[in-house]
Amino acid sequence: MDETGGASGALPARRGTAPGWFVCFEGGDGAGKTTQVRLLTDELERRGHPVLVTREPGGTRLGEQIRDLLLHGGHVAPRAEALLYAADKAHHVDQVVRPGLAAGQVVVTDRYTDSSIAYQGMGRGLGRDEIRRLLHWAVRGLLPDLTIVLDVTPETGRLRRGPVHDRLEAEADEFHAVVRQGFLDLAARDPARYLVLDAANPPEEIARQVLGRLEAVWAAAAHASAGGRRSRLGGIPTSGERA
Ligand code: TYD
Repeated sequence: MDETGGASGALPARRGTAPGWFVCFEGGDGAGKTTQVRLLTDELERRGHPVLVTREPGGTRLGEQIRDLLLHGGHVAPRAEALLYAADKAHHVDQVVRPGLAAGQVVVTDRYTDSSIAYQGMGRGLGRDEIRRLLHWAVRGLLPDLTIVLDVTPETGRLRRGPVHDRLEAEADEFHAVVRQGFLDLAARDPARYLVLDAANPPEEIARQVLGRLEAVWAAAAHASAGGRRSRLGGIPTSGERA
């Protein structure tokens, strides 16, 4: 078994309070997140790691109902939209993400809090810091160990999405340009927790880069824990600040 636990499925211990790892995919509509979530989780499962795949909005029964209201209902006032996304996240983190982390799983989510900061905070103009404070309360400060931003131009995103659009996807390219910049700004503020990749690259190449970065995060955690206590799981380090 290597330091990242690659051969046996064991993961190094996280530095926070729960043994699992929290990985998020973010990016504009049409960036290919869903494909990358599947490629990563297939590979982790092939290696024997315990993986929990989920998404926002959604991931719970209530979340799927909220998703339907948000994406396929009528007009939603911007503040109501922000609160509904926040409610989905509060429920999802409490019912799915934290239990998964507590059970030592690698929780991989298709979107998390950065989507709200980019879409509602920046795209809707509700303010990055206000939305950040709302979300911090909703998820009780739970931060991902790694966020992968799949960077896509509004034009490419629109072409990839095709003719059928949900309520957010139907927004103009200018809206998606602001959202895109929102993700890039978030990543630039905290490069240690982010990996930004060009979504125009071939999916297999993107998947290789994602896996390489995750292995590097785990290797660093294993190395750090080798200096102190050994991983509870004997392989994958446990992840960072969980709040
Ligand atoms: P997504 O599930 O990525 O859409 P798809 O069905 O195409 O896979 O996301 C649904 C939409 O919700 C997307 O346009 C982005 C938006 N969204 C927000 O505006 N705020 C949020 O907090 C989240 C999680 C998503």
